[in-house]
Amino acid sequence: MGDAVHLRGLIEISNHCVRQCGYCGLRAENANLARYRMSFDEIMECAEEAVRRGYGTVVLQAGEDYGLETDLISDIICKIKRATPLAVTLSLGERPLEEVGIWRSAGADRYLLRFETSDLELYHLIHPQNRREKRHYRIEMLRALKKLGYEIGGGVMVGIPGQTVESLAQDIEVFRELDLDMIGIGPYVSHPDTPLGKGEWVRSIAPEEQASASAEMTYKMIALARCVCPEANIPATTALATIDLAGYELGLRCGANVVMPELTPPAYRSKYQIYPARRSVEDTDPSGPSSLRARLKKIGRFPGIGPGGRHHLYPQEALQ
Ligand code: 5AD
Repeated sequence: MGDAVHLRGLIEISNHCVRQCGYCGLRAENANLARYRMSFDEIMECAEEAVRRGYGTVVLQAGEDYGLETDLISDIICKIKRATPLAVTLSLGERPLEEVGIWRSAGADRYLLRFETSDLELYHLIHPQNRREKRHYRIEMLRALKKLGYEIGGGVMVGIPGQTVESLAQDIEVFRELDLDMIGIGPYVSHPDTPLGKGEWVRSIAPEEQASASAEMTYKMIALARCVCPEANIPATTALATIDLAGYELGLRCGANVVMPELTPPAYRSKYQIYPARRSVEDTDPSGPSSLRARLKKIGRFPGIGPGGRHHLYPQEALQ
């Protein structure tokens, strides 16, 4: 993918969520979180900021929030696509396929939906609302999103309680099978207001089989994902930078080629508590927000220009 690092402006447009994921602070049942939803105008202001900063993509991310209505999201996509050269990535959860089809027609380019783990038993344990289904719903949805013409992003958390090292290896096989365009990999970070954080919903496995939720294990996963999926866009994630101050730099040196700086207004940002003590790009840098370019330069990298979509470098058969 070369030495360019694509910057994606992350806009966390709502922290409402209908899901009960056992690890996530935004889960519906968490009453210790003040909820917010950004307005159309606030979202557009952030998109304009992305253009001013020279980013090529904005990511509209939220909990699975049906208060963000189909038409509102469509209108935002249309307006951004009309008024700016930005690529638009959605990360809005397991919304019905009909809706994501409408958003694709409105001009959305990409969709992010991490499948968290390909281990079906563990997946169902930590995602209670999908337990009725025999299949892995998010993996199925990624396939459907690809058919709709989206570039698709999947990914996993590293070191979920009950996750084995072997199942992480299997996750990398699934990255390949799905032919992911984007792969997000971050360490699991315990959140005290969630079942997993309280030691509930934990599958017991032999201690030596447990994958470590360490920065080192995350770097290995990024490096292996890069080897197996040479064409994918892979971010150095916020969760990685949260557990390791050098997470962005080392993630990029291990095969990542994307950083996602937050554009969310600070008052909302502090409420987007997926896990505690989340650190954004500027928080990992004592010299402040504008020095990302300088940080990249220090490791021989530079910001990418344009939307930075997937590159097709190899014939399809070569990657299978
Ligand atoms: N630790 C690390 N990552 C988390 N996510 C959610 N909760 C946590 C946590 N406690 C990740 C999931 C989700 C993404 C938006 O954030 O992988 O898909």
